[in-house]
Amino acid sequence: MTNGLFTYTLTNTLGFEVSVTNYGGAVTSLKTPDRDGNFGEIVLGFESLDAYVHNPRYFGALIGRHANRIARGRFSLNGVEYQLPCNNGANHLHGGFKGFDKRVWDVRESEKTVHLTYFSKDGEECYPGNVAAAVDYTLLDNELRIDYRATTDQDTIVNLTNHSYFNLKGDGTILDHQLTLNADNFTPVSRDLIPTGKIRPVEETPMDFRNGKTIGAEISADYDQLGFTGGYDHNFVLNDYDGSLRSAGRLYEPSTGRVLEVLTTQPGMQFYSGNFLDGTLVGKNGVTYVKYAGLCLEPQHFPDAPNHSNFPSTVLRPGEKYIQTTVFRFSVSG
Ligand code: GLA
Repeated sequence: MTNGLFTYTLTNTLGFEVSVTNYGGAVTSLKTPDRDGNFGEIVLGFESLDAYVHNPRYFGALIGRHANRIARGRFSLNGVEYQLPCNNGANHLHGGFKGFDKRVWDVRESEKTVHLTYFSKDGEECYPGNVAAAVDYTLLDNELRIDYRATTDQDTIVNLTNHSYFNLKGDGTILDHQLTLNADNFTPVSRDLIPTGKIRPVEETPMDFRNGKTIGAEISADYDQLGFTGGYDHNFVLNDYDGSLRSAGRLYEPSTGRVLEVLTTQPGMQFYSGNFLDGTLVGKNGVTYVKYAGLCLEPQHFPDAPNHSNFPSTVLRPGEKYIQTTVFRFSVSG
């Protein structure tokens, strides 16, 4: 323990291990076996818990009240215009200057679960309504399950996710990882990473991961959407969204055989290839995290949803229950 910060570790009978801190509800460590049964670290993170207090790239953190960007920090609800703080150039990102990732959560532990709760007051980061948020991390035999819940006492917007960076071989970059995404479409963005509002087919573009592809294969292709940040940082529109838990995609690392399958109840998944990592952050074991050192698969509602009526709504009203689940399922393959 340092400065009231704690980590909570869950292990299962197979030896899988996950650690979570009450600061930002961040996953600080996740250890799974490779094809030879050797356990290793598969998420990026810091050696010391104190470092999570300055976690500029959101390693492992819970993201809220509204994940990803909101154009110019503006949205209107019931005819009222709201102005959120702009902490990412001219735009609002990941809940603002002090989002859910920078809050100390209350924690309760049970056998397989770390239960986190956070009460976000009316007006916090200029969002309307008191929001009671609860996130459970549960370690089962071969999966980490994350259950998100929230309620409000006034109409507001809510979009929660987890910002873990995976690297299934534990070092180097993720360019050699193979990714499959169950998405026929994605939401293209403008230069400042705000969705244009269009839904664009992935067909015949470097965004097509439907049949599985090495991430590095086309990451440098001459394609407008990849030029903005030098890699992938896009919301993929998951096929056949109906709110039930279904597969969003699969990540495979050939040298270790590790496989991560992502299942979610959410309509979209942000695939971010770690483009803003630039070698300035030093993580576990003294490793500097270079560009593409890890990737995020963030199931969520679409970025800037409050400003696009054709995107699934992120409005939460009193009496409604926000309930979402994401499962990270681990296995090994040839
Ligand atoms: C998200 C965004 C990225 C970036 C990272 C944090 O994944 O989509 O553009 O802001 O968070 O560095």
